[in-house]
Amino acid sequence: MPGLGMWFSALFPFILLYSARGQVSYSIPEEMAKGSTVGNIAQDLGLDPQRLRLGKARIYSGDSAEYIALNKDTGFLLIKDKMDRESLCAKTTPCALHLQLILENPMELYTITVEITDINDNQPTFQKKRVHFEISESAVTGARFMLEGAMDADVGVNDLQSYSLKPTDNFALELRSQARGDKKVEMVLQKPLDREKKGVITLLLTAVDGGDPQLSGTVQIDVTVLDANDNAPVFTQKVYKAVITENAANGFKITTVSATDADEGFNGHVTYYIANKEENVRNMFFIDQNSGEVTLKGLVDFEKAIHYKIDIQAKDHGGLSDSCKLMIDVLDVNDNKPVINLLSVSNSVSEDSALGTVVAMMKVDDADSGVNGQIHCIINDNIPFALTSQSSNFISLRIEQELDREKDAEYNISITCSDQGVPALSSSTSLTLQISDVNDNAPVFEKSKYDAFVMENNSPGLSVLTVKATDADWNQNARVSYILEDSTVNGVSVSSCVSVHPDSGLITAVRSFDFETLKDFHFRIKAQDGGSPPLSCNVTVKLTIQDQNDNAPQVLYPVQTGASALAEIVPRAADVGYLVTKVVAVDVDSGQNAWLSYKLQKAPDRALFEVGLQNGEIRTVRQVTDKDAVKQKLTVVVEDNGQPSRSAVVSINVAVADSFPEVLSEFSDFTHEKQHDENLTFYLVLALAVVSLLFIVSVISIISVKIYRWRQNKLFYESGANLPVIPYYPPVYADGTLQHVYNYEMCGTTDSRMSDGKFVRPYSQNTLMSQSRLGTVQRQKEQEVDELTLEVRIS
Ligand SMILES: *[C@@H]1O[C@H](CO)[C@@H](O)[C@H](O)[C@H]1NC(C)=O
Ligand SMILES: *[C@@H]1O[C@H](CO)[C@@H](O)[C@H](O)[C@H]1NC(C)=O
Repeated sequence: MPGLGMWFSALFPFILLYSARGQVSYSIPEEMAKGSTVGNIAQDLGLDPQRLRLGKARIYSGDSAEYIALNKDTGFLLIKDKMDRESLCAKTTPCALHLQLILENPMELYTITVEITDINDNQPTFQKKRVHFEISESAVTGARFMLEGAMDADVGVNDLQSYSLKPTDNFALELRSQARGDKKVEMVLQKPLDREKKGVITLLLTAVDGGDPQLSGTVQIDVTVLDANDNAPVFTQKVYKAVITENAANGFKITTVSATDADEGFNGHVTYYIANKEENVRNMFFIDQNSGEVTLKGLVDFEKAIHYKIDIQAKDHGGLSDSCKLMIDVLDVNDNKPVINLLSVSNSVSEDSALGTVVAMMKVDDADSGVNGQIHCIINDNIPFALTSQSSNFISLRIEQELDREKDAEYNISITCSDQGVPALSSSTSLTLQISDVNDNAPVFEKSKYDAFVMENNSPGLSVLTVKATDADWNQNARVSYILEDSTVNGVSVSSCVSVHPDSGLITAVRSFDFETLKDFHFRIKAQDGGSPPLSCNVTVKLTIQDQNDNAPQVLYPVQTGASALAEIVPRAADVGYLVTKVVAVDVDSGQNAWLSYKLQKAPDRALFEVGLQNGEIRTVRQVTDKDAVKQKLTVVVEDNGQPSRSAVVSINVAVADSFPEVLSEFSDFTHEKQHDENLTFYLVLALAVVSLLFIVSVISIISVKIYRWRQNKLFYESGANLPVIPYYPPVYADGTLQHVYNYEMCGTTDSRMSDGKFVRPYSQNTLMSQSRLGTVQRQKEQEVDELTLEVRIS
């Protein structure tokens, strides 16, 4: 009947399902408009339409809403309110309203059933418009994902009929009937997902019902493909290269390594590590875990390592990894000074050291390489040393020029070594070298010769002169001592005349000098240093003794003796200017001190004689007369020219007679008068004997003295040279005469040595007197006297 109903409903909205006694059924589609006719109840029940009105017909619908109303006049049932089957019955079928038609007069009750049929007025619906799935790309095929099914309020064919899922690349739809009848919708993975190809998949699930027209509902399924760690990181380069200079600053950025990971998120997050096992590399370099930036952490020293190889690993969080190498070359920087190590140094070197003698050895190192480590050393200029190098960095300092301590006693040598880097680094060291002395300089006297003057009659010990010699050497080698060189002065050692102080060089007279016996002499002083062996030099000192007027003139002729009754005979017939005699006097002094003048002091008759002022010649100044006494006594004063002057007086007897007896008779008076008179003949004989005797005594004395002195000298030198030098006077010859002799011999000039023998006589006054007496009486002897005078003058 439903098919019929439906058909009816096309014509009429209602369908009278059946009509029976007291009972009627209708079938109407849901959602009929208000006022639509469901059916004519009166007619269908076979009732008089009047009856309805009269019977006060009414519809009882129980407690449900009144959807159906009754037109009492016509008997039509009308839709009073729109009916929705889904809200009235939900999924229950069939869906019917049960109404009662109640009539009065008489009371009747009719049952009316209105079946409400479904129309496709509801589409399938999903609870959510979109659903979201996150599926790992590692999900295996066959994996199922439950989907939420759709709902359709309609029933029957209008209800949900089928689903479809698009696209079908990865997933297929599977429906599984469940016990309760509804279906379980599942999405089954047919083909593995690859996030790296497609990360998000959008699917559309469509549900359709069977109505006509067919209605559908959709839900969008968003599938996010979750990443699985299926990709390892990959470095962009297998080997990275970098160059750094040594001493680069801490934190210096060397390079950045990079690895990529196709995975996403956590799985694609790459972290970097240094994988080297070596501690030094790990301490030296730092890699930023996240950025891959490699920086310097420590101090790079070319001198320690010139190359570093760093193993770097990249890891993702899934534990997959890759590795690469970072090769770092270190460039040298000239950062090391040369270092000078003195291996051995002499503090002092002898000035006579051979050329090439090594005075210092050193080792020079530079830690840099290449030109930065090539070393060149120099020393300061103008020193007699040079550097030589045996091997690359062993350097020795040698003597190159001869040393002379007297020129430079000390050298400050500074050695500077520099490398060839740019800029070059250098370092220097200095050493002080003393030059030790060698006794290579002899002392040198300040003068080439010395002249000294001493006034005669000096006191012994008188300072004469100081000689000085200097020695350029040092210390002991320059300590000069002065030595009097032994020589003889007139046969005696010079040391008995002078002495020299060994340290000061002061020359002192050892004795008193007598100009008259010694006018000058030479001696040598040696200056000797204290070196070993000692060096010496010598100098000649000439000592000149200066005269003092210490000697009175000595009258040589006529000889004055106490017993003398000598007389000069003047013939009465003598002419004016007759040379009576000549006073011969000498003065052993010299110069002015020996410049003699003669004056007549006393004469009985002044007019008869005169004496030559210069030559001492006594001459007559007038004719002798008878009145003139036979016996004349003249007194002549001989004076020297010294200051003060000294003089001698000589008395001369002159006999004015024609014959010798006359003279004798006259002169016996002289003798008587003066109690000196002697027989002239006897006197002459006596004189001759005395002279002979004295001559012999003198010769013996001289020989004795010579022998004695020779022995004495021997003793003196054997006893040592440094005994105090004392003037030597032989004690046995304290007598004045002999002392004169002795002095003469001892200190006579060497020049006069030739005339030594001759001078023995003139210097002995007694001898002279005796000798001259031999010729006194003869005028012819005058010549001889002159010669004598001449000899004295020469001396
Ligand atoms: C060497 O140096 C020292 C100290 O600096 C100085 O006293 C001395 O005079 C110097 N010697 C020379 C020869 O320059
Ligand atoms: C004294 O010195 C000279 C050179 O000045 C030398 O020829 C001589 O031998 C020296 N004499 C002595 C005794 O040393």
